[in-house]
Amino acid sequence: MNQTPTLRPAGLANEVIFDNIGMTFNTATGSTEAVANVTGSIPEGKFVSVIGPSGCGKSTLLDMVGGLLKPTKGSVSINGETVTGPRRDTAMVFQEDSTLHWRSVLDNVAFGLEVQGSPKKDRYDRARDMIELVGLRGFEDHRPGQLSGGMKQRVAIARALAMEPRVLLMDEPFGALDQQTRQFIGRELLRIWEKTRNRVLFITHDIQEAVYLSDEVWVMSARPSVVKEIVPIDLPRPRPEGTHSLPRFRELEDHLWALVKVEAEKTLGPGARLA
Ligand SMILES: Nc1ncnc2c1ncn2[C@@H]1O[C@H](COP(=O)(O)OP(=O)(O)OP(=O)(O)O)[C@@H](O)[C@H]1O
Ligand SMILES: [Mg+2]
Repeated sequence: MNQTPTLRPAGLANEVIFDNIGMTFNTATGSTEAVANVTGSIPEGKFVSVIGPSGCGKSTLLDMVGGLLKPTKGSVSINGETVTGPRRDTAMVFQEDSTLHWRSVLDNVAFGLEVQGSPKKDRYDRARDMIELVGLRGFEDHRPGQLSGGMKQRVAIARALAMEPRVLLMDEPFGALDQQTRQFIGRELLRIWEKTRNRVLFITHDIQEAVYLSDEVWVMSARPSVVKEIVPIDLPRPRPEGTHSLPRFRELEDHLWALVKVEAEKTLGPGARLA
């Protein structure tokens, strides 16, 4: 099951490649080494989840892939091009609310397509489909301020999916959702992804969710973080209902929890013991 993170040969055009990237934040109050060194790759058509203790650098990692943060060490490349800023083929869903408060739900969901230059009718048709998909039909004309936290997050998810990005970066996208909606949207995401097979980097605290969705789960260590282990998820696809109760599912879940637990205990400080 164990797989030491190694860099695949250079020049594979359809991959997201992390080449020895690191990030140290320098602020007035001192410097924080968030990410020590991450090396690895996401090939075309792979769904990769990242788990690890709070504050270990997961959002930092995602922001570097999305071109919002420049690594202080190493580089990220997509399709052979070094990431130097946000790219048109990449969409992000952030951990915090990222809706545009002055726009309606429909205009929020259509926003990414608008930036891409898609004609008005096409982008509204597509936006309406995505609104339906995330269960927000009837709220097209509402403003984000009139929605709950979970509904706002569904708007952000719909906006990213509408763009049909080749690289989809999601930072705890289901964090604000209740368990039922979370499961439903997770299954829908998988259904869409089975068709598009884009590259997904998905951050979650939910180990079951990571196993259910992914081809690989990267476990990050406590800060300054490295990828401690890459765990291939060797469950067949598609993953029907009942997948969660397969013995192999449980084994993978237990293995991942054992890895994360050690890192979380380090983060929580001396004496912290998790069950
Ligand atoms: N802009 C910044 N300036 C200074 N330090 C930062 C900045 N952004 C993040 N950090 C620090 O980098 C570390 C990693 O933060 P990050 O947000 O990546 O963690 P995370 O793994 O996403 O945590 P969580 O699971 O709680 O979302 C933290 O110690 C944080 O304080
Ligand atoms: Mg985070």
